[in-house]
Amino acid sequence: MRRLDQKRVLITGAASGIGAASARCFAAEGARVVIADINEDLGAEIVREIQAASGEAHFLQADMTDREACRRMVRDAVACLGGLDVLFNNVTAMSTTRRPSSGDISDEDVGWNATLASGLDAVWAASMTAVPYLAESGKGVILSTGSVAGARFAYSSPGYSAAKAGVVGLTRWLAKNLGPRGIRANCMIPGLIDTPRWHRPGQPYTPTARNWVKMTPLGRAGTAEEVAKLALFLASDESSFITGQDIAIDGGFCVGMRFEEVVT
Ligand SMILES: NC(=O)c1ccc[n+]([C@@H]2O[C@H](COP(=O)([O-])OP(=O)(O)OC[C@H]3O[C@@H](n4cnc5c(N)ncnc54)[C@H](O)[C@@H]3O)[C@@H](O)[C@H]2O)c1
Repeated sequence: MRRLDQKRVLITGAASGIGAASARCFAAEGARVVIADINEDLGAEIVREIQAASGEAHFLQADMTDREACRRMVRDAVACLGGLDVLFNNVTAMSTTRRPSSGDISDEDVGWNATLASGLDAVWAASMTAVPYLAESGKGVILSTGSVAGARFAYSSPGYSAAKAGVVGLTRWLAKNLGPRGIRANCMIPGLIDTPRWHRPGQPYTPTARNWVKMTPLGRAGTAEEVAKLALFLASDESSFITGQDIAIDGGFCVGMRFEEVVT
């Protein structure tokens, strides 16, 4: 018996990085996976890869900054899979423009709307749309991707900090209010994870990522596959009594933020 045998799973942002690694890992464990992403070409590639390995995967194009598109995505995934057991909210569109954290900062400067829409509103909209189906499943799971940035400390992007802190609060609310309907809700709190977010294939890390590695006690970035293994545990019945939690996977980043290097 595989760990997600016949589980019907929807993963957002699964055309790359953590989402793609999770889609591969879940399908290899017997899940029937819908990959939702804005990037159709990359998404189709992951679907082909999973199918070539005898797994089941489908692609849905959806823009997570659009709340109605999130709701439609869930309904389309349910139609495709014949129900839903696991909703994995993984997208947060990162803002690219940054300004110093003082003076006049506009919404546009920090990509406030897109970051909050994709990183928090989408989690709410998709989760609420999924509730009746997850309840019907009897063992429904809502899993979301937070971040040490925001969930554990203030980050240079205010929208990202707010969205990621918000995901922790929303996860607790979902766990409390949906537990009686048999639905568990948890979120993962990754530190630096080696994905295309930080560098192009074959290219060095961005300076920010290099600094994060220096501040990580294990001395390296995590891999998307390592996060996928935590996601697999939280999506599977192995974690059947765990709900309302935010679980860090950060190589010790939060406990070891190199305090001694600043004070010595
Ligand atoms: N990589 C890290 O170091 C790290 C650390 C902490 C948290 N996270 C979180 O993990 C999640 C995944 O990040 P990743 O590093 O795997 O990123 P990634 O860039 O490798 O993949 C992100 C995916 O999301 C899709 N996407 C972006 N905007 C979208 C939108 N508006 N609608 C639909 N899809 C959209 C992209 O097409 C891409 O396939 C994010 O929520 C991110 O904030 C990442």
